[in-house]
Amino acid sequence: MKATLLVKNAAQLVTSRDASDAPLAGERQQELTVIEDGAVAVNGSKIVAVGSTEEVMARVETDQKTREVDASGQLITPGFVDPHTHVVFGGSREHELTLKLQGVPYLEILARGGGILSSVEATRAASKEELVARGEKYCQQMLVQGTTTAEAKSGYGLTTEAELKILEAIRQVDQVQQVDLVPTFLGAHAVPKEYKGDPDRYLDLVIDEMLPRVAEKKLSRYCDVFCEEGIFSIEQSRRVLSAARDMGFELKMHADEIVPLGGAELASELGAVSADHLLVISDQGIEQMAKAGVIGVILPGTTFYLREDHYAPGRKMIEAGVPVSLATDFNPGSSPNNNLQLVINIACLYLRMTPAEVINAITINAAHAVGRASKIGSLEKGKNADIVIFDAPNYDYLAYRYGTNLVSSVIKNGKIVEEVQQ
Ligand code: NIG
Ligand code: FE
Repeated sequence: MKATLLVKNAAQLVTSRDASDAPLAGERQQELTVIEDGAVAVNGSKIVAVGSTEEVMARVETDQKTREVDASGQLITPGFVDPHTHVVFGGSREHELTLKLQGVPYLEILARGGGILSSVEATRAASKEELVARGEKYCQQMLVQGTTTAEAKSGYGLTTEAELKILEAIRQVDQVQQVDLVPTFLGAHAVPKEYKGDPDRYLDLVIDEMLPRVAEKKLSRYCDVFCEEGIFSIEQSRRVLSAARDMGFELKMHADEIVPLGGAELASELGAVSADHLLVISDQGIEQMAKAGVIGVILPGTTFYLREDHYAPGRKMIEAGVPVSLATDFNPGSSPNNNLQLVINIACLYLRMTPAEVINAITINAAHAVGRASKIGSLEKGKNADIVIFDAPNYDYLAYRYGTNLVSSVIKNGKIVEEVQQ
């Protein structure tokens, strides 16, 4: 077998194996293959061999054209997958930091017309080109931090035209830079000011006009909703998600973040791919998600940034058999962070997840959460060559250090796209 790229001599290579059919749950969440003196060989854009340096070199042919990378003393992982972001938006919300420090709650800022609604105003005012340029910049920041695929939600437009503009911008951002984006339609992110006090009438617009247009233009295969007190109730969320499901969308949900409404139960009832946030998930919700195989996407950076006093019960969810994934939730309000390495630290320290569970959460389980597990999320023969090399001697080190970008190189589709100088 020919190799165009060979990364060898790594102190450790870590990956899940044989988990492309279903996400890792329960005991299996921590099942990580660890190869000392590891290597990975690539031909074109695909992985052709993974193993010890000796094994891989015996299996592949190299010639003068083969690019060889010496990863001595370093760690190789699959490219990270960030399965919940709002990466395309206008404006920014640094002015809310002071309000927050004065003790004004997140939902109160929104009720006063700020929060999501202030980002909606800025996003409506931005041209598609501006949104693309900003999205491209944010994706480049993700890439150098080890993220090679990310989900990207609409939801700062809240008119048919503005929602389509965001989804089209997401499509363009996907094309102009290296991070692959998986779009999600989140028209039901908030009630826009034109419909203040009448969420049902706004949902008529989402269901009757936006969803059919998104489907027709094939702009997204996922539909999401912000199910929260003062935003969309359980009944309203059921309505929009059921309508989406009938039109062929797969479902996601912002569920049980601030007030426990039973979002996890609804996600399970509707067979959603994932339920996200879950700070205040009930025991029954945990049980039902485990049974229905709904992936729990936990966003601990958001909990940190909102200064909530408790995190999602990650440990308990894993022990109950919920497949757990993690994401940055990158957005202008509750989580202006697009670095999954920071999420690794917070998940270990405050969700009490082990480093192995966390690695699986942001690779193979995240790939399942965006419907791409047959192509990405692990280093296995035949998968896309999305690979990260870290200046770290082992994977525990990623959870131990924080606040420094430990990436030394990123390989996307078989090409070295970033070599970060340390
Ligand atoms: O996932 N929860 C709802 N939406 C985002 C926050 C959006 C914002 O504050 O702009 C979230 O946390
Ligand atoms: Fe979100």
